[in-house]
Amino acid sequence: MVVQTQRDYSLSNGYHNAVALDDEAIEAQVEKTWWSPEIPREQLKALMQRKDAPALMHFGLWIALLIGSGYLAVLSWGTWWAIPAFLLYGTIYSSADARWHECGHGTPFRTRWLNEFFYHFSSFLTIREGYLWRWSHARHHTDTIIVGHDPEIQVMRPADLLKIAMDFFYLRSGPPEVLRVVRHALGKPDADVRSYVPVQELNKLYWSSRIYLAIVAGFALWSLAIGSFLPMMFVWLPRFYGGWLHQLLGLTQHAGLGEDTYDHRENTRTVYINPVFRYLYMNMNYHLEHHSTPMIPFHSLPAYHAAIKDQTPPPYPNLWTVYKEMIPALIKQATENPDYHIVRPLPTPAIKPQTKTAVKFTADAIAEDGWVKVCTVRDIPENDVVGLEYNGNVYAVYHLKGGRFYASDGICTHGRAELFGGLVIDSCIECPKHNGRFDILTGEAVRRPVRQNITIYPAEQRGDVVFIRITQENTDILL
Ligand code: FES
Repeated sequence: MVVQTQRDYSLSNGYHNAVALDDEAIEAQVEKTWWSPEIPREQLKALMQRKDAPALMHFGLWIALLIGSGYLAVLSWGTWWAIPAFLLYGTIYSSADARWHECGHGTPFRTRWLNEFFYHFSSFLTIREGYLWRWSHARHHTDTIIVGHDPEIQVMRPADLLKIAMDFFYLRSGPPEVLRVVRHALGKPDADVRSYVPVQELNKLYWSSRIYLAIVAGFALWSLAIGSFLPMMFVWLPRFYGGWLHQLLGLTQHAGLGEDTYDHRENTRTVYINPVFRYLYMNMNYHLEHHSTPMIPFHSLPAYHAAIKDQTPPPYPNLWTVYKEMIPALIKQATENPDYHIVRPLPTPAIKPQTKTAVKFTADAIAEDGWVKVCTVRDIPENDVVGLEYNGNVYAVYHLKGGRFYASDGICTHGRAELFGGLVIDSCIECPKHNGRFDILTGEAVRRPVRQNITIYPAEQRGDVVFIRITQENTDILL
């Protein structure tokens, strides 16, 4: 249900401060009410698998399209053909935003450095500072369209129609973004940025902003040196003159829908679009599916959509149907009633056997010397994880290749998600909520946004049974 609140969208001043909820209280609220689809764990695991091949083909084609359209644009310079040629280059260039987004989740590639490389490359192109937006986007997924807590609400209420129109060429959101890069290069983030970027990350943010500005200054000097504006047409400016498609597709994600609800079916849309747009947008038109489970890589989103669509509002058949409903809603918000929003029809839950997206066991007694029985070996498939609840605490128990068992805290140190709903990848557990990762062998936080390690517990197989040892030095539950 959508709850109306007083709208102060600033993070340093907004909803969560106004009602005196700290981050922990907000996270607890999210955990309680966040909607998740029901899908068997085995099926979900298969959909979450990362592969380099589809991503390499996808990004390889994109780079080829960038180079090819850029070459056409150079050839056309000085003629009327430059208009369509640069529009084409700018449109492909601006789809860097979808690539920034996907790589930020760490899902397109299995190989981590490839994700990181394309993340920073796309971040630069689309003028989204990598060390800033990683944190902003984690917050967006935790508090999607929660007033005063989500830093990425594209259309605030009352809707600013002029801003929406100008952003088809990035004219309202773009200049502040460029100014923000300058601010950060000078080491002066504002209060909102300080509210979600950890202080330990600020130096990286400052230095990446300086590198961004140095690259753009290099292109400006090149233009000056040859007495032509041509080099400047290839970085950052394309995000403006070619930004129309990004805005056209991006608005469909949340605009006009509910605020302050933790059910993504009420604030997020899925819409069918043509294959060319889908390629450029990296399947983000399946946005409801993406928000409900950010661990699904772009290439599996259509299959995931097919698997859960009976649990979601009907997808929009095309862009036209979205805009036919959205434009009047935004006009109404702008002129008559800022509280107005589109209400999506939720399906009546089907009566079917309960499916488990995560498996959790309960133990009621310590067997001996701190060892607690978890389950049988067959209960944890190889390269998978289950949960264990014991004495009010939650643990994650892993079965890695070669019959090796490990155990750790079951709750993520970033946003308190249950780790056993996540994915085991290369001896790491990936958190289901924001794709942070921990090394299962050491407990080390190895992928942002997690920064604080988890505790590791001894685990072993005895006969057919898996035990973990909850020792006094690891936890105080025995006290
Ligand atoms: S809750 Fe954010 S990465 Fe785990």
